[in-house]
Amino acid sequence: MLDFHKTLENEQSLDPENWEKTRQLAHQMLDDMLDYLQTIDQRPIWQKTPEAVKAHFTQALPQQPTSAEEIYKEFKTNVLPYNKGNIHPRFWSWVEGGGTVLGMLADMLASGMNPNNTIGDHAPRYVEAQVIDWSKQLFGFPPSASGLLVSGGAMANITAILVARNQFLAGIIRQKGLKFLDNQLVIYCSTETHNCLTKAAEIIGLGSDNLRKVPVNEKYQIKIEVLKMMLLADKQAGLLPFCIIGNAGTVNTGAIDPLDELLAIARQENCWFHVDGAFGALAKLVPAYQADLAAIEQADSLAFDFHKWLYVNYEVGCVLVREAKIHREAFALQANYLLSHERGLAAGPDTISNYGLELSRGFKALKVWMSLKEHGIQRYQKQIEQNIAQAFYLQDLIRQTSDLELLAEVSLNIVCYRYKPQNQSLSENELNDLNKEILMQLHENAIALPSYTLLANRYAIRVAISNHRSQKADFQVLVEGTLALGKKILAD
Ligand SMILES: Cc1ncc(COP(=O)(O)O)c(C=O)c1O
Repeated sequence: MLDFHKTLENEQSLDPENWEKTRQLAHQMLDDMLDYLQTIDQRPIWQKTPEAVKAHFTQALPQQPTSAEEIYKEFKTNVLPYNKGNIHPRFWSWVEGGGTVLGMLADMLASGMNPNNTIGDHAPRYVEAQVIDWSKQLFGFPPSASGLLVSGGAMANITAILVARNQFLAGIIRQKGLKFLDNQLVIYCSTETHNCLTKAAEIIGLGSDNLRKVPVNEKYQIKIEVLKMMLLADKQAGLLPFCIIGNAGTVNTGAIDPLDELLAIARQENCWFHVDGAFGALAKLVPAYQADLAAIEQADSLAFDFHKWLYVNYEVGCVLVREAKIHREAFALQANYLLSHERGLAAGPDTISNYGLELSRGFKALKVWMSLKEHGIQRYQKQIEQNIAQAFYLQDLIRQTSDLELLAEVSLNIVCYRYKPQNQSLSENELNDLNKEILMQLHENAIALPSYTLLANRYAIRVAISNHRSQKADFQVLVEGTLALGKKILAD
């Protein structure tokens, strides 16, 4: 039996015993991080995690306290030097943003306040509502639409596809399950669609076979005529097409599907129209892309990220749903312990759990709110435009360099190329191996951090530019580095 009288003789909390010492350490941490960010381009972009560091993180569960000063020393020795690199100007892997200084500070403030931003009448809920409202304005969604901040594009897409499924047959699926349907539900998207949507099809119980992957044209955009044929064949077989997904910027090459045509087909077929705009939807800010992305304004749902092409610190993505009622009906559940009250803390906006899968969640809205205010949309437009211009600049550099081959025409912010020496005849397999080796050595020699993909079975060095710190000269370093490594590897 717990002797609670005895336990309560010496009540404690986890707050510091010495606030002055903590204050000093906190100021030190802040100064160190500001120095770190200010001088980021002077340090290696990436270095392999040493075995000793890996071993450091295999210790037994701590039983006794360690001082904060000591822990911070460990952090500086074993964590900070082996960062990923996505805050460096020459990082272009996958599609990642680099964060900002105010974003970092906002995370500290949010974490200090530490609200569980799910339910209740407190200012952080209204900050989040403001961010969702601004997101609607950003993409031309009506004020009556709804939205939710989530961990990233994958969760935003999965959330949207769940809404699409649950609105089919007005909520009956939620109660009865998919077996209630006469036949199989089917979703359509291009072969270039991000694999989080395959996961979405699996999670909502369709199975990946029922996510129809429509082939793409030479610009990596969905082939509309083939989509129409697939839809017809499925309907003739008695299947139930219910959702069409359009890409606003594919992960491999940045291709934008013909969204207006997909929208028209979705309307004609009575299908939900979802747009995965994880990064590419943000190009809507740039006048040259507005026509191609205009159909986003009519989409039933949109997934996009703040942490990619709005450069907000990890992690925060967003899903918007045109009809708030449908969004709510997809997730809302009554629970006595989550009911909204008329007054008191339990008043305030509708519980977040009525709009998605999560319950407890942090105050990630603060960094978005502060960032959007700090820079203003016009500044973001310029920054995004700059990244697109850099992609076209790199494309030019590659075209002008005889030993480099462009593997896909640039359409947005992604450049795919390979080293292909003119004076040697190498098989496709040899070229693939060679370019993979070049990529790994670009990383190991801390020259630059592009990533990779396969385009028509050809290994591509893939440069995804969503980095606000990159400059023209950084792309020259990449090109020179690729050429030098290619020559050296072949000579070896
Ligand atoms: C087109 C596309 N969709 C979805 C995602 C997943 O987004 P996240 O990594 O934010 O979950 C990505 C990630 O790169 C993407 O490029």
